[in-house]
Amino acid sequence: MSFAVEAGAITGLIGPNGSGKTVTFDCITGFYVPDAGRVRFRDRDITGLSPDRIAIHGIARSFQITGVFRRLSVRQNLVFAAQDKRIARSLAGIASRAAVDAGRLESALDRFGLRGVADEPVASLSHGQQKMLELAGLTIMQPRAQLFLLDEPFAGLTAAEIADSLTLLEEARGGGLTVLIVEHNMRVIMSVCDRIVVLDRGENIAEGVPAAIQTDPRVVEAYLGRGAGAGRP
Ligand SMILES: Nc1ncnc2c1ncn2[C@@H]1O[C@H](COP(=O)(O)OP(=O)(O)OP(=O)(O)O)[C@@H](O)[C@H]1O
Ligand SMILES: [Mg+2]
Repeated sequence: MSFAVEAGAITGLIGPNGSGKTVTFDCITGFYVPDAGRVRFRDRDITGLSPDRIAIHGIARSFQITGVFRRLSVRQNLVFAAQDKRIARSLAGIASRAAVDAGRLESALDRFGLRGVADEPVASLSHGQQKMLELAGLTIMQPRAQLFLLDEPFAGLTAAEIADSLTLLEEARGGGLTVLIVEHNMRVIMSVCDRIVVLDRGENIAEGVPAAIQTDPRVVEAYLGRGAGAGRP
């Protein structure tokens, strides 16, 4: 496969179960080292770098299985997310909270609807609230992320929760951030994405604006015609 993500745009990455969407994220973010091919971010070749180095370069990722610390409180999770990872590599950096921008942290609590549960342990939160916490954390990373990779951020959320969690995407659009989003909810994908890349069995079979993707015969055959987004996580 080969595709480019345009800076400042929201790009959707869709395709049937097992087509390689999460593996693509794993290769971009250093969880897997690709056997062949290169991953480029801005003017840099990031192939083979470790996940923490890639995060420092400005790529934030959310996980299909939510990646939050369940035994910590919501606020503690956000403090961790907001810590400057360049200095957190030293023990002094981990011990110090000086690097955390408290204002940004507090504002994230409000914007993602987490104010009322700020001091609750994450394990007591609903699935939807945990997803919101993960997204909130991405927005306050230090150094700030420029590219957000979101792996099924809306899976298992109610319609009301989905409406709320569009916050991140709206902020991204307003703030010139770049988003690559994997999602089976076609209503959301078709409404938020500028462009869509379609994967089938590890290859990108189509790429274009939502209207063109919806009627592309190869995409309908490989994915959309098979009841895509019909409620499976
Ligand atoms: N570590 C691994 N070793 C071998 N095969 C793997 C590994 N991880 C994933 N796969 C396989 O690679 C293929 C792509 O998986 P991937 O998780 O990327 O799919 P996906 O497009 O994210 O699907 P879904 O929509 O269900 O999340 C699948 O056939 C999967 O079983
Ligand atoms: Mg996946």
